[in-house]
Amino acid sequence: MAERIATMIDAQKIQARIAELGAQITKDYEGKRLVLVCVLKGSFVFTADLARVIDRELRVEFLGVRSYGEGTSSTGVVQITQDLSKPIEGEDILIVEDIVDTGLTIAHLLELLGTRKPASLKVCALLHKPARTRVEVPIDYLGFTIEDKFVVGYGLDWSERFRNLPMIGVVEPS
Ligand code: PRP
Repeated sequence: MAERIATMIDAQKIQARIAELGAQITKDYEGKRLVLVCVLKGSFVFTADLARVIDRELRVEFLGVRSYGEGTSSTGVVQITQDLSKPIEGEDILIVEDIVDTGLTIAHLLELLGTRKPASLKVCALLHKPARTRVEVPIDYLGFTIEDKFVVGYGLDWSERFRNLPMIGVVEPS
């Protein structure tokens, strides 16, 4: 396929920003153990890189979610397709997301995981698209604010393609 991907954020810039986020998280979680909750599928690349720049004891959990849309827009109904492997009561949870778009997924996950009585519950997102916000959600650690364009790469897909690109880009019509 011959689509051209225009780079929005190059790999070097992503890695530099993740190093900053990792340093901040390391500082904020002094004396604590973290649980990184990787929201599948898009966050697998970000979680892998973020985990390696956090200098604290941590474990990684994976949460499979599927959001139901009405046409192209999400309804906010999120189905859990793969749950965490253990209870999280009393633990310090950091949800890791590739992108916060409407905010509906994170809003749902905060409510769901909040009922499991973690000691703390925070959000780390690589990208935020404020133009599409439908519900305001707290993002405790944010990589980049981006404009309202359909982005791929670094875990994000277009019909399952392009997740393996090292940068964030925009698909240009060929
Ligand atoms: C994306 C992304 C977030 C969600 C954000 O997942 O990874 O989980 O959408 O959108 P929202 O803020 O509007 O709720 P997607 O549904 O594309 O699934 P995937 O990660 O498996 O590709």
